[in-house]
Amino acid sequence: DGIGATTAGEAVGTRGGWGVDPAVREQVRRRRTFAIISHPDAGKTTLTEKLLLYAGRLDVAGMVRGRKTRRAAASDWMDLERQRGISVTSTSLAIDYRGHRINLLDTPGHQDFSEDTYRTLMAADCAVMVLDAVRGVEAQTEKLFRVCALRKIPILTFVNKMDRPGGDPLKVLGEVEEVLGIGAAPLNWPIGSGRDFRGLCDRRTRRVSIFQDGAPGSLVVPTTDGDRDDPACPLLDAGTRAALLDEIALLDGAGEPFDPGRFLRAEVTPVLFGSALTNYGVEAFLDAFLSLSPPPGPRPSDGGPVPPDRPEFSGFVFKVQGNMDSKHRDRIAFLRVCSGRFVRDMEVVNARTGEKLRMSRSHRLFAQDREAVEEAFPGDIIGLASTGQYRLGDTLYQGEPVRYEPLPQFDPEHFAVLTCRDTRRRKQFARGMEQLVEEGAIQAFSDPAEGGREQILAAVGPLQFEVVQARLESEYGVATDLEPLPYTMAHRVESEPTSLLRMPPGSLLTLDRSGRVVALFQSAFDLDAFRGRNPGVRFGSAG
Ligand code: G4P
Repeated sequence: DGIGATTAGEAVGTRGGWGVDPAVREQVRRRRTFAIISHPDAGKTTLTEKLLLYAGRLDVAGMVRGRKTRRAAASDWMDLERQRGISVTSTSLAIDYRGHRINLLDTPGHQDFSEDTYRTLMAADCAVMVLDAVRGVEAQTEKLFRVCALRKIPILTFVNKMDRPGGDPLKVLGEVEEVLGIGAAPLNWPIGSGRDFRGLCDRRTRRVSIFQDGAPGSLVVPTTDGDRDDPACPLLDAGTRAALLDEIALLDGAGEPFDPGRFLRAEVTPVLFGSALTNYGVEAFLDAFLSLSPPPGPRPSDGGPVPPDRPEFSGFVFKVQGNMDSKHRDRIAFLRVCSGRFVRDMEVVNARTGEKLRMSRSHRLFAQDREAVEEAFPGDIIGLASTGQYRLGDTLYQGEPVRYEPLPQFDPEHFAVLTCRDTRRRKQFARGMEQLVEEGAIQAFSDPAEGGREQILAAVGPLQFEVVQARLESEYGVATDLEPLPYTMAHRVESEPTSLLRMPPGSLLTLDRSGRVVALFQSAFDLDAFRGRNPGVRFGSAG
C-alpha cells in the first residue's frame, strides 16, 4: 500500500497479476528520485554542488551556481531566447553516486516560484528539506513541505550552516515539530557550533567524528573517529564530552528512537546536521540519504497502485514547458517514468485520448545541450518534444491501460487582470490563454461583468504572470497589460443563485473555465465576513 510498503534499499514488492522484469527491478533498486525543498538562501545550491562534487561531477557543479546567479535577472524570463538556457531546461539532474542513480528534480525558489515548483514535487519519491540552522523553518520551506505532506512523501532534513554563530539545534527541532507537525529524529548531533563546530556524533553507532581541516578546495573532509563513551577518547576534552553526553541524554529522554517505517510513512523526518559550505557533515548526510530514501515505489492509478517493475512502460507528464527551442515552436513535456523500461521511439498510448504515439525526440535536459535518451527506467525524467499531443497530467503507457491520478491544482495567492491591448487580436488572445491554462502555466477566471478582452489571472508565484505575458507576445503576437489585484485567495462557492450572495466589500465573484463560481478575497478576514453573511454557502477548493 503505497510507499509505506516499501522499505528503503529493498527490492520493491509486486502485486499479483503483474509480471516482473528483473532488469527493471535492478534499475529501480538503484534509483532515488528526490527534490530539495528549502527557503531561499538556506543552502540548496551549495548542497547540490556538494552532491555533484562527491559524485565526481565537478564539471556540472559550477553550472549549478552559475544558473542561480543568472536566474536572479528578471530579464532572463522576459527574454525568451535566453530563457532557453539552463535556467529553464534543466528540470532534473541525473547523477551516478556509489552505485546509485540519483535524479534530483529542480524546484526553483526565489521569485520564479510557481505552480511548476509544486507539480515537480509530484514526480519525486522523497524530499530533502534544507534548513538554515539560525533561521530554522521559514515561509517557503513550510509551503513546499505542505505539498510534500499532501502526497506523504518521506522527507530527510539537513540542518545547514552549523558553522554560523547563533544556530540552536534544539530550537530547530522544536520548530520542525511545532510548525510542520512532523516528528523530528536527529540521527547525528553537532559537536560545538558556529566557529567551534568541529564534529558530529552518530547517535546510533555512538561514534564521534571530528573534522580535520582539509586542504582548501579538497573534496572530502577527512575525519578522525572515536567512541563517544570512551572517557580516554582524545578527540573530546572533558568539558565538550560532558556537554555532548548531556545533550544526547536529553534527546534520548525526550524523543523516540528513529523508526524507518515511520519515516517512509512521512510521520517522522530524520535530521542530520552540517555545513554545506565547509563540507562538514555532507558525506554523513549523503550516506543517510542513500540508505534511508526509498527507491521508486508503486504509484496510485485508477486501477490501484502500479508497481515500478510492471514490465510494460508507463509514466505521466508533470510539467509542460513552452517554447524551449528557438528553431521549433514546440513545447517540452516532462515525463516521469513510473514502470517498465522506456526506449526511444517506442509506441505508447495516451490514456486521455486513446491515441497511439511514437515517443521519439526524447531528451534528458541539462545545460544548453539536449542529450538524447535511449533508455530510461522508473524514477527517471525525460523530456518529450510536444506539439500539443502531451498535456499536463497525461498518462502514457504500453500494455494494459493505466491512468495515473490527476495532478492536484494548487491554491493561487497572486491575482492580476490581464488585458489584451489591441482589440483586433482578441481571438489570438483567447486562444493563447486557453492553451496556457491548459498547459498549466496559469489559472484564469473571468469576471462575468466583463467581455472577452480581459482575464483574471491567478498564480502561485507572481513570476507566472510575466511568463504568460512574454509567451502571449512571442507565441501569439498579443501584447497585454497587467494590473495586479489585491486578492490573496480563491474559493469555489456552491450556491444557487449567485445573485443572492452577499459579498463583503473588496471581494469579487468570478467564473472559472468550467463556469463554476469562484469568489476572490483579499484576506482571511474578508472570507470570514463572507461566511457570516452567507451562512448556507458551501466551499470547495478553487482548483
Ligand atoms: P539557496 O540555493 O538555498 O538559495 O542557497 P545557496 O546555496 O546559494 O546559499 C546561500 C548563501 O549561503 C550563499 O552565500 C552560500 O555560500 C551560503 N551558505 C550555504 N551553505 C552554507 C553553510 O553551510 N555555511 C555558511 N556559513 N554559509 C553557507 P552568498 O554569500 O549569498 O553567496 P556566494 O557569494 O557564497 O555564492
